Amino acid sequence: MAETKFTPRVFSGIQPSGGLTLGNYLGAIKRFVDMQGPEFETIYCMVDLHAITVWQDPAALTRNTRELCAGFIAAGIDPEQSILFNQSQVPEHAQLGWIFNCVARMGWMQRMTQWKDKAGKNQQNASLGLFAYPSLMAADILIYHATHVPVGEDQKQHLELTRDIAIKFNNDFGVDFFPITEPVIEGAATRVMSLRDGTKKMSKSDPSDMSRINMTDDADAIALKIRKARTDPDPLPDTLEGLEDRPEARNLVNIYAALADISPEQVIAEHAGQQFGTFKPSLADLAVAKLSPISTEMARLMDDPAEIDRILARGAARAREIAAPILRQTYEIAGMVGAVSA
Ligand code: AMP
Ligand code: TRP
Repeated sequence: MAETKFTPRVFSGIQPSGGLTLGNYLGAIKRFVDMQGPEFETIYCMVDLHAITVWQDPAALTRNTRELCAGFIAAGIDPEQSILFNQSQVPEHAQLGWIFNCVARMGWMQRMTQWKDKAGKNQQNASLGLFAYPSLMAADILIYHATHVPVGEDQKQHLELTRDIAIKFNNDFGVDFFPITEPVIEGAATRVMSLRDGTKKMSKSDPSDMSRINMTDDADAIALKIRKARTDPDPLPDTLEGLEDRPEARNLVNIYAALADISPEQVIAEHAGQQFGTFKPSLADLAVAKLSPISTEMARLMDDPAEIDRILARGAARAREIAAPILRQTYEIAGMVGAVSA
C-alpha cells in the first residue's frame, strides 16, 4: 500500500483506570509530547470505553478521566495543537469497533496475551468487552486512518492485530482503504520495570505502592522509592553489556536515560563504577526535577474540572470531523443503505 496516500497522523490512547505511573509517562505520554510538531497531526485519547471492560466505579471513572486529561496537559500535550478527548464522546469508535468485530476472528482474539493475563483462570466470567478489547483498539486507530501509534512494549501484539484487521478488511472488500499502521515503540523506556522486581512491568495494579512511582507522588515519596529500589551489590559497569543479567540495575539506567533524554550508553559513560549509594540519589534528584512540576501542574488543573470538560468536549468535536467521514465511507464500502453522502 502506498504510504503517501495517508496524512501522517499519530493516534494513541491511555485507559482512565486510575493512577498514572512513571511507566505510562516514559513509555507513552512523554513520547506523545515528543511527537507533537509539524511532522504529524496528533490525536490523544482517554479510552473510557476500554476502561469499563473491567468494572469501574462511575464516580471514580469520571475523576480518573479528568485526572488523566490533566496529566496529559501537565506533561506537555497542547490541547490546541493536539486533539485531546475521551473516547465515549466520539461514537464512531464504537461503531467502527462493531464492524471490526465482524472482521476479526475468534482465534486471533484468543491468542492475545493481555486477554489471557487479564481474564486469568476464569475466562467464562470475563466480560465480552474484555475479549473484544483489541478490536475496539483497532477501531480507535483506524477511524482516523492513523499512520503511527506510539505505545509501550506491552501493546505490540495489539498493534499487530490492528494491522491484521486492516489487511483483512481491505482484502475482504477489495479496497485500499485502511492504512497499515506503524507501531512506534522507541526509546530507553518502552518497558519500565517494577522497582521491587526487575523482571515485572511497573504497573498501577501491583499491590505494592513501593514498586512504582505515581505521577502524583511528592518529592519525598519519589526519593524514598528510588532509595529503596531493589538493586544488586555491584557498582555500575562501564559497558551496557555489563547490565545484561542485572535487570534492576538496567531498569534504573533506562529510567535515568529516558528522564534525561540521553541514551543508556551515555548514562553508563557518565556513571561507570558508581555504587548505587551514589547513583540512586542522582536519579532521585533527576526524577524529582522532572516529575514534580508535572504533578504540581496536574493538581492545579484538577482544581477547575469544568475547564477540563470543555477541553475534552472541544477535542471530541474536532475528532468527529475526521472520524465521521471515515465511518461513512466504511459503511458505504460494506453496503449499508443510507451511508452514501448526499
Ligand atoms: P495503560 O495504563 O495500560 O492504559 O497503558 C497506557 C500506555 O502506557 C500504553 O502505551 C502502555 O504501553 C504504556 N505503559 C504502561 N505501563 C508501562 C511500563 N511499565 N513501561 C512502559 N510503558 C508502559
Ligand atoms: N490498550 C492500550 C493500553 O492498555 C490503550 C489503548 C486503547 C490504545 N486504544 C488504543 C493505545 C489505541 C494506542 C492506540 O495501554
